Amino acid sequence: MEHKKLMKFPENFLWGGATAAFQVEGAWNEDGKGLSIMDEQIPVKGATDFKVAIDHYHKYKEDIALFAEMGLKAYRFSISWPRIFPNGNDENPNELGLQHYDDVINECLKYNIEPLVTIFHFEMPSNLIKEYGGWKSRRSIEDFDRYSRVLFERYGDRVKYWLTNNEGNTRIVFGGPMLGNDIKDNKERFQMGHNMTLAQAKAMASCHEILPNVKIGSAPSVTIIYPASPDPIDVLAARDYDLLRSGLTLDPLYKGYYPKALWAFWEERNWEPTIEEGDMETFKNAKPDFLAFNYYGGHTMKYYPEGVKEYKVSQDIIEKYNVSKSFINKIAREKQVGIAQEVVNSHIQQGEYRINDPVGLRATLRDLYEKYNVPLIITENGCASSEELTVDGKVHDEYRIKYLQEHIKECQIAISEGVELFGYCPWSIIDVISVKEGFNKRYGLIYVDRTDSDLRELKRYRKDSFYWYKEVIRTNGKNI
Ligand code: BG6
Repeated sequence: MEHKKLMKFPENFLWGGATAAFQVEGAWNEDGKGLSIMDEQIPVKGATDFKVAIDHYHKYKEDIALFAEMGLKAYRFSISWPRIFPNGNDENPNELGLQHYDDVINECLKYNIEPLVTIFHFEMPSNLIKEYGGWKSRRSIEDFDRYSRVLFERYGDRVKYWLTNNEGNTRIVFGGPMLGNDIKDNKERFQMGHNMTLAQAKAMASCHEILPNVKIGSAPSVTIIYPASPDPIDVLAARDYDLLRSGLTLDPLYKGYYPKALWAFWEERNWEPTIEEGDMETFKNAKPDFLAFNYYGGHTMKYYPEGVKEYKVSQDIIEKYNVSKSFINKIAREKQVGIAQEVVNSHIQQGEYRINDPVGLRATLRDLYEKYNVPLIITENGCASSEELTVDGKVHDEYRIKYLQEHIKECQIAISEGVELFGYCPWSIIDVISVKEGFNKRYGLIYVDRTDSDLRELKRYRKDSFYWYKEVIRTNGKNI
């Protein structure tokens, strides 16, 4: 649609910034913290582990002061489950862990920064994997609820926005170690997904029961799915893949039932999760107040019937579109035999690490709002690059500014088209350790001086994007 005039960003729009505990905190074994599966992840060659990260655990005051200088209205961070319950299900919570997040929250509030708290960002306590296989067991639902309740009771007087689970949807779709352990087959994978989604639903209901005035939502990774061609079979494949990628968690949580076509596909293969009595009631009672989502660009899918050779990114496409290795890895993950597989979309610009698809953000916002009819907030969006300080201590990240500019403009158009968007958080507000690719892949608006192999002094520097975002916030999105 073309527009003659755009609406302003709403007053009180939450201009935020995001991080996740294991990617920033460090202090991996301090103050009684237990181990999570992220602590035990073996880094790829040359990449650092998460033991020190950017030492946010000790430097949070300095970091939050920088966020305040930028003018942030909200800070999205996650709580590490094994900091609160070292084994995931101990009899009593770890007071030192609880105290740490008290301090972080209070520091945010000191500067009028709204804390947006993610309850679970990949950090399944290792002990729960050993004890019962993590999300494989329905015991995880009770343990997650108990952990969430402790957080609601402790911080509910100060935290008004809660996010249950970061990207639970894609963890299920991609499977693998991020779910916490080896998965036997698709039946088990989708059962883990069901348990994880039920855990979110239960925590949402507990939140409403304990804190009737605060808001809670899920935080999936969502994107518009484009058909690879106008061939009706590809158009349908794109829709089917959307059911798998986001419908499988969002439909139960936000509508109270699983997507019917997906269920039929599962049933034919005997992959459908076992639904116990009361599960569908639990979904219906979740009643999330908003939907938070992470956005990194659209996916383009073609039909992928069984028995057909898998699409591989060819050398000429790699050269023609300057496709990165990281992108090829990502493409390889986005597939499901019998439904769809991803292909390169020549209309979308390739970045160093990821694609740049701002219009897809508007399409995603529109799509989510039409489907679920709840207020939306973007909890991650950003571009990574390998960066170094100039001799005078600067980082000229004009590519990041351009990336964020283009995405924020699309947010404004979406708002003008009626979407209820109440916040935007770049990923990441400060350099963090990438989940799989170490510290050379930087996303932040604040530079942290360390490398994969050398911790240096972990000094913080303002990148050019820091000053640019500060002006965006100061003018409430007028000067993008
Ligand atoms: C999201 C995660 O999937 O993408 C973040 O929520 C992650 O934790 C971000 O850091 C970027 O991905 P990566 O692999 O570059 O760290």
